[in-house]
Amino acid sequence: MDHLENRKFKKYLIYLIIVSCVLITWKVLSSDSEEAYISEVKECLKLFQYKLQLTPLQNMLLKKLDDIPIIYVITPTYYRYVQKAELTRISQTLMLVPNAHWVVIEDSEERTKLVSNLISDSGLKTTHLVAKTPPFEKLKAKDPRWKRHRGVEQRNKALSWLRDNLQLGKDKGFVYFMDDDNAYNVKLFSEIMKIKKVGVWPVGLVGGFNVETPVLDPGTGKVNGYKSGWKPNRPFAIDMAGFAINLDLILENAKANFSYKMEKGFQESQFLSYFTTKENLEPLADNCTKVYVWHTRTEKPVVKSEVSGYEV
Ligand SMILES: *[C@@H]1O[C@H](CO)[C@@H](O)[C@H](O)[C@H]1NC(C)=O
Ligand SMILES: *[C@@H]1O[C@H](CO)[C@@H](O)[C@H](O)[C@H]1NC(C)=O
Repeated sequence: MDHLENRKFKKYLIYLIIVSCVLITWKVLSSDSEEAYISEVKECLKLFQYKLQLTPLQNMLLKKLDDIPIIYVITPTYYRYVQKAELTRISQTLMLVPNAHWVVIEDSEERTKLVSNLISDSGLKTTHLVAKTPPFEKLKAKDPRWKRHRGVEQRNKALSWLRDNLQLGKDKGFVYFMDDDNAYNVKLFSEIMKIKKVGVWPVGLVGGFNVETPVLDPGTGKVNGYKSGWKPNRPFAIDMAGFAINLDLILENAKANFSYKMEKGFQESQFLSYFTTKENLEPLADNCTKVYVWHTRTEKPVVKSEVSGYEV
């Protein structure tokens, strides 16, 4: 570290310590429980990360408060021209989420070099798995996207990994299915942190609609229906990108899986029915008025000629 950087770092450090001491003293005096106080301190630290960009120091301090819940982000992926571009976008969104753990599952026999390199370069906390889709379920190039279930094997693999490696009661967090072909606002991850059981929100540009969203009862503020391009009467007419689940529920319901036996288009709906009911969904993103995720769907490139020596 050169002299100038060193001075700047010390200045921030002193500033941080003074402000922290004042805040902590104030919080200890004013909070009625230790839990409330710890959560306040965490909020303060998060504020520092955004306002002062004190990432290394702040991460060090955050690690000490090791009970911060983790957002387990599950991303199935498969090889095609745009794979690296898509995964780059997703990984760089997750770099803005300090408590993300990225679980990437390749539809492949083995871990590929492309994905291994990309996730290790990201510096994120990651788990890299593989699960091959059986040939009978593979989409043919000309098949419409809805014709077969997609990502079943890969999402189940990730759920098994969570259940084998995390412990109910000890590990705290949330589970979110983050497909590699969508675009995400980081605000979504702050919303996920509010979930008690299952949280839901609108998804932009999906199902032939500008937005698909749960509809709230104006009286109770609870979900009483859906605006959805396809079968809005499904018990949960919600896209894969439109919900996240408390980790406790995933660990408690070890049987909850995706399945090829489910009716086409009912994966999300049937999966959610393991955990909750429509009335108990928690509407997020300002009572489902804000859009923080979009089904952007990258156009399939037409590559007529390959320049050798490049991994695109
Ligand atoms: C959401 O709606 C409830 C009542 O239905 C209201 O109490 C609450 O303030 C609203 N929240 C936001 C963020 O708009
Ligand atoms: C869920 O998926 C995992 C991984 O594919 C599998 O091992 C397990 O048997 C499945 N469970 C059920 C109940 O289908």
